[in-house]
Amino acid sequence: MPDAKIITYAIVGLGGRSRFYLDAISQTYASTNRIVALCDRNAGRLALAANIPSVAALKPKLYSEKEFDRMIEENRLQVVLVLCQDSDHDHYICRAMELGCDVVTEKPMTIDAARAQRIVDTQQKTGRHVRVTFNYRYSPSRSQVKELLMSGVIGDVLSVDLQWMLDTRHGADYFRRWHRHKRSSGGLLVHKSTHHFDLVNWWLSALPEDIVATGRRRFATPKTARRLGLQNPGRYCSECEERSKCPFFLDLSANEELKALYLDQESYDGYHRDQCIFSSDMDIEDSMQALVNYDNGVTLKYSLNSFCAWEGFTIQFNGTKGRLEHKCEESVYINGDGTVPGALKKEGTFTRVYPTRKPAYEVPVWNGTGGHGGGDDALLLDLFGAPVADKYMRAADYRSGVYSILCGIAANQSIATHGWVKVGDLVQGVSSPDYPSMPDGCELFSIPLHV
Ligand SMILES: NC(=O)c1ccc[n+]([C@@H]2O[C@H](COP(=O)([O-])OP(=O)(O)OC[C@H]3O[C@@H](n4cnc5c(N)ncnc54)[C@H](O)[C@@H]3O)[C@@H](O)[C@H]2O)c1
Repeated sequence: MPDAKIITYAIVGLGGRSRFYLDAISQTYASTNRIVALCDRNAGRLALAANIPSVAALKPKLYSEKEFDRMIEENRLQVVLVLCQDSDHDHYICRAMELGCDVVTEKPMTIDAARAQRIVDTQQKTGRHVRVTFNYRYSPSRSQVKELLMSGVIGDVLSVDLQWMLDTRHGADYFRRWHRHKRSSGGLLVHKSTHHFDLVNWWLSALPEDIVATGRRRFATPKTARRLGLQNPGRYCSECEERSKCPFFLDLSANEELKALYLDQESYDGYHRDQCIFSSDMDIEDSMQALVNYDNGVTLKYSLNSFCAWEGFTIQFNGTKGRLEHKCEESVYINGDGTVPGALKKEGTFTRVYPTRKPAYEVPVWNGTGGHGGGDDALLLDLFGAPVADKYMRAADYRSGVYSILCGIAANQSIATHGWVKVGDLVQGVSSPDYPSMPDGCELFSIPLHV
C-alpha cells in the first residue's frame, strides 16, 4: 500500500538539468517524495539516470517518449516533472493534466502563443496545477530587491533598466545545441529572457502590455569564424580539423559528466552537444533589446547579450522617492559539466539606494550559495520541503509562466514586423498571477522640493 504522505513523481527529460531534481527527490527530500518512473526519448540517457545509485535504489520504471501515456496509466503518479526540450513541454504538460496529474515544469513553460494557449485551455478544463520553476526569484539577493521595492524605499517605481550579460563561455553554449533553433527554444528572448521578464513582472507585481524589440546575431556567425582564422570549421567540435585555433572548442570527451551525458549517447538519437557556434544553420539572435510598457505605467528597457566579458546583470529602478541599483556577478559554466551553475560572486555584487536629494547608501546583500545566485537550493526547499508561508509569493504557476514567455514571444514578433506588439492579444483567458501588493501613492520626498 503506497504511503499517503509520499508524493510520487515521473520525470520526463533526463539531460543536464535533471540531475538537480533527481538528486533532490532521491536524496535530500526522499522522506516525502519518490521518483516512480522516468521517461526520455534517448534510451542511453534514460539508463544513465536510472543507474544513479540513489535513483536505482527506488527502482523506477523506464519509458520511451512514445510510452508516456502508458507510464501515467500504469503508475500511481501525482506529479509529472517536465525537463525536456522546450518545444515539447506543452505536449507533456497538457497530456499529464488530461491524465489526472499535476505538473512541475522547467522554464520556459513553452515557446509560442499557440502552445501557451493550449496549456491555458487544458489547465482550465482539468483544474490541475502547473508549477513553473522560476529559480531566479528564489536567489536571496533577488528576493531582497523585491523586499526593498515592497518596503517602499524608492516609492512608486516609474521606470526600469535591465541589462543581462552572458559570458562568452556560458553564452556560447546556447549556440551549440537545440537552443540555436527558434522552433526548439523560441530563441533566447523566450528561452533565456523568460527568467528576466518573470523577475521584472514579479518585482513590479505588474503585467506587460506592449513591447517593441530588436535582435540580431552579431557574433555567432561565419564572419566571426573567419576573423578568428578558421577557414572551414567542422560541423561538430569533435570532428573539427581547426579545433586547435578555436577559442570555443568544446571537448566533450575531456569532461566526465559531459561525456557520459551527451557524447556517449549520440548514437541513440544523433543529438550532438558540440555543434559549431559559427555555422549558418541557426536562427536565434545573440544581441537583443526590448522596451516593455507595463499596466502600472512603468516602462522597462531591457537588453540581453550573449558574448560578454562577464556573467550577470545590472538593474536600476527609478522611483518617486529614489533610485535602487543592483549589480550581480555570477560564475561561468558549461551547462551539465558538473560545476555549480551561476554561483553568486560576492565581490561583483552590490545593492545601492539613492534616496532623492539625500546621500546614497549600500544595502548589505542577502547572500546565497549554490546554483543560480543561491536560487536553486531555495527553490528545491519550496518545491519538495514542508510548505511555509512566503510573503514574496515566489511559487509561480502557469499564469506567471504565460506572462514571462509572452514578453519574449511578442519581442520575437516585433523583431519580425518592426513594430509594437500587444501582449494581451497573443493568449486569451489568462488572469493575472498572484503577486504581493506593492506600495501605492507613497509620499514623494521626505524633504521639500526646493532644497
Ligand atoms: N532554470 C534553470 O536555471 C535551467 C537550467 C538549465 C536548463 N533548464 C531547462 O531544463 C530543460 C532541460 O534542459 P537541459 O539543459 O537538461 O537539456 P538537455 O538537452 O541536456 O536534456 C533534455 C533531455 O530531454 C530529452 N528529450 C528531448 N525531447 C524529448 C521528448 N520529446 N520526449 C522525451 N525526452 C525528450 C533529451 O533526450 C534529453 O535527455 C529545458 O527546458 C531548459 O530550459 C533550466
